[in-house]
Amino acid sequence: MENKTFGKNYSNKYDLFYENKDYEKECDFLEELFRKYKLDPKSILDLGCGTGGHVLPLARRGYKMAGLDLSEHMLEIAQDKLKSESLEADLRQGNIIEYDFDQKYDSVISMFAVYSYVTQNEDLLSSFKCAKKHLKPGGAFIFDCWNGPAVYKHRPLQRHTKIVREDEEVFRLTNPILDIENHVVETNFEFLYLKNNELVGREKEQHMTRFFFPQGLRQLLNTAGFDQVYFCPFLKTDSKIDDDCWYLTTIAFNSESK
Ligand SMILES: C[S@@+](CC[C@H](N)C(=O)[O-])C[C@H]1O[C@@H](n2cnc3c(N)ncnc32)[C@H](O)[C@@H]1O
Repeated sequence: MENKTFGKNYSNKYDLFYENKDYEKECDFLEELFRKYKLDPKSILDLGCGTGGHVLPLARRGYKMAGLDLSEHMLEIAQDKLKSESLEADLRQGNIIEYDFDQKYDSVISMFAVYSYVTQNEDLLSSFKCAKKHLKPGGAFIFDCWNGPAVYKHRPLQRHTKIVREDEEVFRLTNPILDIENHVVETNFEFLYLKNNELVGREKEQHMTRFFFPQGLRQLLNTAGFDQVYFCPFLKTDSKIDDDCWYLTTIAFNSESK
């Protein structure tokens, strides 16, 4: 199978697959974290910004936004959405493992398990160092990822998702394989595209997604220069993480001044 992720067809359907994802609420959560950690960011860099799920609402709320994503197709959709609302953001194509915007931001965020796509320790360290390089002193790096204890407890499951739009239907079949040694889930997606009940297209994507354990993350972040590292469950700023929270949110501070 071709090892591509977020290709043209999946990107075009991405917003439909996640139409029930409440990005406004997620931005409220980010703002709650800003308040909790006494931050007042004006500029934010969104790593793995995708179709702009967070970039757009945050830009509407007045933040100066920048974004980075590997997929030109996801970025194209984000750009179109920005244009349709006359909003501006500095979106660039690139890899979060190594990038250079040549400027610093008040916060760097990365939402919806983008970091789970970085499966190698050396790439993670490189990416964390890059995030630190792009933060102003005192700025926070906030990202979520799959939480290892929850993955072991609940296990990634086979799933089928269907979206229907007028005469079009898309089925996404999800077949995950757990690799315990490497802390990775190999998720094989198969997409079936139907028009007027006729199969008009079929394709596969393989997503390798890593799950993380808090102390492993803390160690890598410390090595990258983030002295203070905190965790909370996704969308719950005041709760402790446990083995029921699939998404682990990490808040790390730039060691220079926090
Ligand atoms: C699950 S989507 C999340 C998109 C967006 N953050 C959201 O919340 O909707 C993961 C995104 O990460 C991007 N991505 C994965 N690995 C990446 C990498 N190494 N560098 C940059 N972007 C990456 C993908 O192209 C995709 O847009």
